Amino acid sequence: MKYRTFQKTGERISLLGFGTMRLPILDGNPGEINEKEAIAMIRNAIDKGINYIDTAYMYHDGNSEVVVGKALKDGYREKVLLANKMPAWFAKSEEDIEKIFEEQFRRLDVDCIDMYLVHNITVPIWKRVLKYNVLEFLEKKREEGKIKHIGFSFHDDFTLFQEVIDYYPWDFCQIQLNYMDAEFQAGVKGLKYAGSKGIPVIVMEPLKGGKLTDILPKTIQEFWQQAPIKRTPAEWALRWVADFPEVLTILSGMNSMEQVDENIRVIEAADPSSLTAKEQAIIKSVADEYNKLIQYSCTECKYCMPCPLKIQIPAVISLYNDWYLYEGNHKVKADFDMWMSPDRRPSACIACKACEGHCPQHLPISDIMVKAKEIFE
Ligand SMILES: NC(=O)c1ccc[n+]([C@@H]2O[C@H](COP(=O)([O-])OP(=O)(O)OC[C@H]3O[C@@H](n4cnc5c(N)ncnc54)[C@H](OP(=O)(O)O)[C@@H]3O)[C@@H](O)[C@H]2O)c1
Repeated sequence: MKYRTFQKTGERISLLGFGTMRLPILDGNPGEINEKEAIAMIRNAIDKGINYIDTAYMYHDGNSEVVVGKALKDGYREKVLLANKMPAWFAKSEEDIEKIFEEQFRRLDVDCIDMYLVHNITVPIWKRVLKYNVLEFLEKKREEGKIKHIGFSFHDDFTLFQEVIDYYPWDFCQIQLNYMDAEFQAGVKGLKYAGSKGIPVIVMEPLKGGKLTDILPKTIQEFWQQAPIKRTPAEWALRWVADFPEVLTILSGMNSMEQVDENIRVIEAADPSSLTAKEQAIIKSVADEYNKLIQYSCTECKYCMPCPLKIQIPAVISLYNDWYLYEGNHKVKADFDMWMSPDRRPSACIACKACEGHCPQHLPISDIMVKAKEIFE
């Protein structure tokens, strides 16, 4: 296993971390984790050198925390840094923040959480975090020894990322990064910005949640087959992320023993700044090919927002594009069902076109909403 150093403490953290959002499940029910298999996978990963385990309150309907807690019994807790997160969007008061925090400890059955993140920062969630004094709460918990390090995970644009980074002396942060999302959300610019401030970055979704490895568009398969260097799609994608020295650890949401073993093997060969110009060019041509398949070139500038009907327009367009990129991959529909709140879906569109006049890309947004409704709803 390759390790990188967490400068704050000098601890060595495995370059591959285990994300527990996509554990194996039973009967297609996300809340019902295949506990035996999941525990075996987590322990196998730890036995092979992984020492960073990431969970969250809402993963697998709350059961990820429970299963991670069980996996860390029998001496495994001491071998890892455990990461968990505060989902402030579930809170309607400061008391709710405390209740969620306590529930997490009950579910995990541990005394301390090493890496504690403010979960999923976006504009509205950041407002709530400030309103409910979440950072002050976490500082108190750090003084009490319940948590060790305070960080945040992020899903909005670079401007907000910069604001959040500059707001507080974070111990670390977590961003979505893969070769398709180099300029999306915080992106490589955010990674470099955090690096310039000495804030280590944990990467999530290095395989775009499996979309870069699962069902590949035909042209992409051909690109990989013709590449002069033979690697699996997962290997190319993980190597691309690992090449950035600013990355402390890469979380992959592995859901089988084979994936755990493959990703460990890949990471063992991944040194920072080791990809050659030729290798970078291969990855870039694959990303360019993916980009050609994209239906509507929305840049998520959000000029179309707010929608009077509260539709999450940029998110709908992003999922619509994904649907074509990944040839109707079930994961895209699952993402829609998981993340799109029922009152903010495309079927709410009344074609008032208030958004279209503001779109710098001149996208036919109301037509896209009709098409998205047909696919997803
Ligand atoms: N804080 C936040 O806001 C936030 C948001 C998202 C994620 N996270 C955390 O970050 C972690 C990582 O994100 P992610 O789960 O999206 O990671 P990811 O590595 O991009 O996606 C995981 C998926 O990739 C596929 N995969 C993994 N290894 C593979 C391999 N060797 N070969 C082929 N396919 C492979 C699997 O898909 P199949 O199911 O198709 O096999 C797996 O479910 C999460 O698990 C979670 O802990 C946090």
